Amino acid sequence: MSNEFNVEAKEIIQTENWTPENIIKLLSLPMEDAREILYPAAKEIKEKFVGKKVYFRGLVELSNICAKDCYYCGIRKGNSKLERYTIADEDVLAAVKFAHQNNYASVVIQAGEIASPAFTQKIEELLKKIHAETKGQLHVTLSLGEQSLETYQRWFDAGAHRYLLRIETSNKELYKTIHPQDDTHNFDRRVECLHFLKKVGYQMGSGIMVGFPGQSLEDIANDILFLQKIDIDMCGLGPYIEHEDTPLFERRTELLPLQERFDLTLKTIAILRLMMKDINIASATALQAIDPAGREKALGWGTNVIMPNLTPTEFREGYKLYDNKPCLDEDRTKCQKCLEGRIVMYGHEVGYGEWGDSQHYKKKR
Ligand code: 5AD
Ligand code: FES
Repeated sequence: MSNEFNVEAKEIIQTENWTPENIIKLLSLPMEDAREILYPAAKEIKEKFVGKKVYFRGLVELSNICAKDCYYCGIRKGNSKLERYTIADEDVLAAVKFAHQNNYASVVIQAGEIASPAFTQKIEELLKKIHAETKGQLHVTLSLGEQSLETYQRWFDAGAHRYLLRIETSNKELYKTIHPQDDTHNFDRRVECLHFLKKVGYQMGSGIMVGFPGQSLEDIANDILFLQKIDIDMCGLGPYIEHEDTPLFERRTELLPLQERFDLTLKTIAILRLMMKDINIASATALQAIDPAGREKALGWGTNVIMPNLTPTEFREGYKLYDNKPCLDEDRTKCQKCLEGRIVMYGHEVGYGEWGDSQHYKKKR
């Protein structure tokens, strides 16, 4: 790489001139140059604006029942190989208790997408139980897909604080290529849901998959700008990983090698951190599916949240969104110990007992 190009990359970062063309230039940096230019810049901004603490969000994969059929996702409705499960409330509460006792200030309840009055009520009741169990000390993030404004409001009133809904891609045409063409997989509806979440008052999180078939660097650049425009408080973005029982698996020959998808994800995270300095960015579990220390490595590139898996081990096999999902049989205590060790090794510390709310959100209030 010419020095000239590196000088230009540094200038883009310094002047914060975030045009799509400039973002594409940074995304195209060879990894060795990105390590020299992007990495230290993102690290510095992160430490200045959100610090070196890593916040734990205990992840409970409540159910793999899904009404949708996204072409990339292992728990899609059309995957008939999968046995479907829903974790009983008392088992969710046991996981929540574990999180509370171990000073995680927060849990994430995630499931396949179901929109029904019964499901709305079930979650509402579960939220109230979590609230009672932890005397309101534990913050709850939901990741339960597209719902009505009224449902979002009910869950918020029942004690949920944050909501994650990835846009997956901000390119409407590309979105169509990875989803069935029907009313339940509508791009505009998804964007509308993100607006609902803000309207209700959630800390709103979104994100994308990096490196799926058909996605270009220009798409990723536009995605980052989209996330900035809709003014997210939190972000979860990770590499796309093929799953053999999904339609998108057929296009696996178009994919970048896994390591390159991993590297591209790190560059995307770093640019997002430079552009949105005070948001929370999670290290996606999919990073760990490529590199055992992937989530910890991403901390240096700008993430500040990790979601240790608290799903009872018997159900983990059932929640494989992609192949090679890690920690399928590590229990909670073991996961925590090995994770904490690696976080410290990578120069960070765990923010035990702190909510670690998005600074971005707090400043707006
Ligand atoms: N590879 C990577 N991430 C995936 N997700 C779903 N399927 C895959 C896959 N094959 C992500 C989506 C979704 C989140 C819960 O998991 O971005 O929003
Ligand atoms: Fe479940 Fe897309 S397959 S939300």
